[in-house]
Amino acid sequence: MTVRAPAKVNLQLSVGPLRDDGYHDLVNVFHAVSLFDELTAVPADELAVTVETAPGSRVAVDGVPADDDNLAARAARLVAARLGVEPAVALRIRKAIPVAGGMAGGSADAAAALLACARLWDSPDDPRLSRDDLLELGADLGSDVPFALLGGTAIGVGRGERLTPALARGTFHWVFATADGGLSTPAVYAECDRLRAERGEEAPRPRVSEELMSALATGDAKALGVVLSNDLQAAALVLRPSLRRTLTAGHEAGAIGALVSGSGPTCAFLAENAEHAAELAAVLAGEGVAKSIVRAGGPVPGATVI
Ligand code: C5P
Repeated sequence: MTVRAPAKVNLQLSVGPLRDDGYHDLVNVFHAVSLFDELTAVPADELAVTVETAPGSRVAVDGVPADDDNLAARAARLVAARLGVEPAVALRIRKAIPVAGGMAGGSADAAAALLACARLWDSPDDPRLSRDDLLELGADLGSDVPFALLGGTAIGVGRGERLTPALARGTFHWVFATADGGLSTPAVYAECDRLRAERGEEAPRPRVSEELMSALATGDAKALGVVLSNDLQAAALVLRPSLRRTLTAGHEAGAIGALVSGSGPTCAFLAENAEHAAELAAVLAGEGVAKSIVRAGGPVPGATVI
């Protein structure tokens, strides 16, 4: 059973107040892009995980746990527990999504494992786990996992796990600049809180950008480019100052939108069309401001059996 699951970029990431449970209330507009991790689940004596770089990708996988700490292994255990079976499965993960890169690669692997294991162990004719059950299990694993199942473009509220699909027309063309080494998501959120406290700022109550929704609904890339926003960007730039140069290089190379993806350090650049994305990627590759330059389009579907 092989499943592929997409990376995401956040078109809007509005971070509200810190909650008592350690999470922040968000408005998070997720957009799935055509950069995929692939997970193969094969029946085995016991649960095992292997992680490798996908063919043609330059993603470094050294930091990814190949044991029970891997989110995909936890996903397999959750599905097994719900179905009352042993989690006897070997999970082989081939990664093309940057690790700890702000593109929800770990969440994609977890979503892929949920779907693959449900297909392996559940009854095809009378499934005990519905799509909604998988979304709920996903939310237990991480805030971004439900979106990796759903895909497309969607608004996430709560800690980002409560999703409503958003209307989006056409395809948007992206160029991603990956960085050496990742950023820790909790550290970036904590830095965002620290910066706000230092400036005496109250966390605003997040709300969906109307301009963003209308740019998506009309498929207007130029309008989308100017309303992209990420409240975590300032914090990511403090923790990784070199990203400023990467963003500037993208602007100077003609990107119609540029921002840090999620908690970073991957930077996302919006192009006008496929041809412009190819030009932008070529210019950025020559600038030496990234570990690698990757092109992708969105929206694409969520985790899918292939
Ligand atoms: O849900 P997930 O495990 O992916 O979140 C990782 C970390 O990101 C959390 O431990 C928390 O520090 C931060 N986070 C947050 N508010 C959210 C989502 C994530 O503070 N809404």
